[in-house]
Amino acid sequence: MSAPNMETLVSLCKRRGLIFPSSEIYGGFASTWDYGPLGSELKRNVKDAWWRSVVWQRSDIEGIEGAILMAPRIWEVSGHLASFTDPLIECKSCNQRFRPDMVEDLVCPNCGANEFTDPRQFNMMFKTFVGPIEDEAAVAYLRPETCQTIFVNFENVLNTARPVPKLPFGIAQIGKAFRNEIVTGNFTFRTREFEQFEVEYFCRPEHAPRLYEEWIAERLKWYTDLGIQPDRLRVRPHEEKELAHYAVACSDIEYRFPEPLGWRELEGIANRTDFDLRRHSEASGHPLDYFDEPTGQHLAPYVIEPSGGVDRAILVFLLDAYHEEQVRKKKRVVLRLHPALAPIKAAVFPLKRNKPELVEMAQGVAGNLQQHMRAIYDDTGAIGRLYRRMDEVGTPYCITVDFQSLEDRTVTVRDRDTMEQNRVHADELLALLRDRIPY
Ligand code: GAP
Repeated sequence: MSAPNMETLVSLCKRRGLIFPSSEIYGGFASTWDYGPLGSELKRNVKDAWWRSVVWQRSDIEGIEGAILMAPRIWEVSGHLASFTDPLIECKSCNQRFRPDMVEDLVCPNCGANEFTDPRQFNMMFKTFVGPIEDEAAVAYLRPETCQTIFVNFENVLNTARPVPKLPFGIAQIGKAFRNEIVTGNFTFRTREFEQFEVEYFCRPEHAPRLYEEWIAERLKWYTDLGIQPDRLRVRPHEEKELAHYAVACSDIEYRFPEPLGWRELEGIANRTDFDLRRHSEASGHPLDYFDEPTGQHLAPYVIEPSGGVDRAILVFLLDAYHEEQVRKKKRVVLRLHPALAPIKAAVFPLKRNKPELVEMAQGVAGNLQQHMRAIYDDTGAIGRLYRRMDEVGTPYCITVDFQSLEDRTVTVRDRDTMEQNRVHADELLALLRDRIPY
């Protein structure tokens, strides 16, 4: 089965509290989205899975969490003020601006007129003012990529992390980035406010080509380990003309999104050379180099950068997990999310809500699980209906307390994917779920 169309997913996300249009009661706001009760759980789980794999499970990467507002000079030095631009043309009749590739046969998509200004470069950074006076001296930018926070903290991390980092080593960060994109859309695929997860992995220049390949394989594996179907992923090396101003090599991990999007970037892995550290060293006067004790050599490390979008990854996890199937002649919608990512890990139901003994035991079972994982108690429908609701949001296990439970304290555990049910003693439930739900 191919990924569902985007409208189907948008509707499921809205209906089930995963993702809502932002500012909806005011008619929404320009391609911005809010994560609801289940979406915010999913987002935490995606970020935790990434953090575990790149920080906790390795001893060569440290994490940081930097500020969104940074010294404006950083964006001059990084090249973003000069180069982070898109060319725009303006319709002389309605004054709307477009990227030249959005305009066919020189006809304005807004008003149909056919006179445009010459293309002008438009910087995609969001500007703001710091302090009470809105003049040029107070201009600051919302960071358009998180990695600059890492480069400017290189020295701090090197001086404070213990044991002292030795090349190759990395610094990881998850955080918000902002881009005043001209073309947004396709749900959360391209928005103006989004989150990134980035590693800057510093190394000796001669090791950069090998580590670049290793990181591509490592990041691809992260997605497939978390359940993304391998045939919907591919690696596409950039052609020279596509490379960003700081990179000598870059490959995108692409996902096959539903048409008309098709194959699009999910994450990029770049060899940024020593561009950023060198530029910041020169401009700040702080030598951001690495002292190699055994050889007594100071060297400018190269950096390999796996850079992904949290929101785009979530979109891919949702699209990939979405399945429709026929069960007893009825449509079943199921999100086959990896259990580590599922917003709710277990839902506990009493077989009958008008039997206080069942209700009490089911609430007790849910309460115990809640000390360890996101688990819920629900008695707002017939069991079959509750199962379907949990299938739709990807809950891997549903637990039912029935009359036998009152006699021997066993409960049924229903598996989301196979729909099989097994009886388990209530006291063994937590161990069983912990075993089946990694992390
Ligand atoms: N530091 C390098 C960098 O920022 P990028 O390819 O521009 O590279 C990295 O961005 C990732 O961030 C992309 O692969 C994508 O997942 C995500 N991303 C970029 N722009 C985005 C946008 N406007 N909306 C949502 N995600 C975006």
